[in-house]
Amino acid sequence: MTLSELYRKARSDFRNAEIDSPQYDAMCLIEHFFGVNRAELVVKGDKSPKAEIEAEFLTAVEKRSSGYPLQYILGEWTFMDIPFFVGEGVLIPRDDTEILVRETIKRVRGVENPKIIDLCSGTGAVAIALAKAYPKAEILAVELSDKAFSYLKENIKRNACENIKAIKDDIFRLYEEFSDSGFDAVLSNPPYIKTDIIATLAKEVQHEPKLALDGGKDGMIFYN
Ligand SMILES: C[S@@+](CC[C@H](N)C(=O)[O-])C[C@H]1O[C@@H](n2cnc3c(N)ncnc32)[C@H](O)[C@@H]1O
Repeated sequence: MTLSELYRKARSDFRNAEIDSPQYDAMCLIEHFFGVNRAELVVKGDKSPKAEIEAEFLTAVEKRSSGYPLQYILGEWTFMDIPFFVGEGVLIPRDDTEILVRETIKRVRGVENPKIIDLCSGTGAVAIALAKAYPKAEILAVELSDKAFSYLKENIKRNACENIKAIKDDIFRLYEEFSDSGFDAVLSNPPYIKTDIIATLAKEVQHEPKLALDGGKDGMIFYN
């Protein structure tokens, strides 16, 4: 098949599977597998890729059509224009988490070298975005899951954030230690979905780790 045909096939499969943004997802996969962006597709659309890459692309289209997250197929995602590795075992950063980062920036403005702790760090989206805004801040990022912790460390390295220290621990065990540690900001985007609701959420969410979603019966365990 040509690149244009592959693009149209992906778009049509995604429409049939009721994927929210069929065109966008199809284009992301074309770019990811063939290194061809939207503008280039107009010029190179009649070219045929190598058979093995075409097969990988078609497998990815099938996976995406079944509700597997686009971000996990791509293996990376951006949050606040910062690149993050993502994959099975770690929550995909959401745009609305930017509110937490922006609010923190407002509140610690004026503190010269703020000391900040990010609980339930996941990919490190919050901690890394803050480290970029405050290169002189001292930031601790706490995450319990083995898999998420590996992503956290890789993302800290990828974004060269030497001012973040990653700690693998359970915040329920550590919280007593945090209470009197002189932090200028204690942040968290914790799991907050009610246990019973999780199974009713989108197919994509079902591929994300339960540990990142489940906030207990009323969703409030972490807040309490
Ligand atoms: C909603 S996700 C948020 C991830 C990231 N902060 C973000 O905003 O994209 C919650 C994270 O908390 C972690 N987590 C769950 N229980 C935890 C615990 N008891 N101690 C530390 N981390 C925990 C999960 O593994 C997951 O990475």
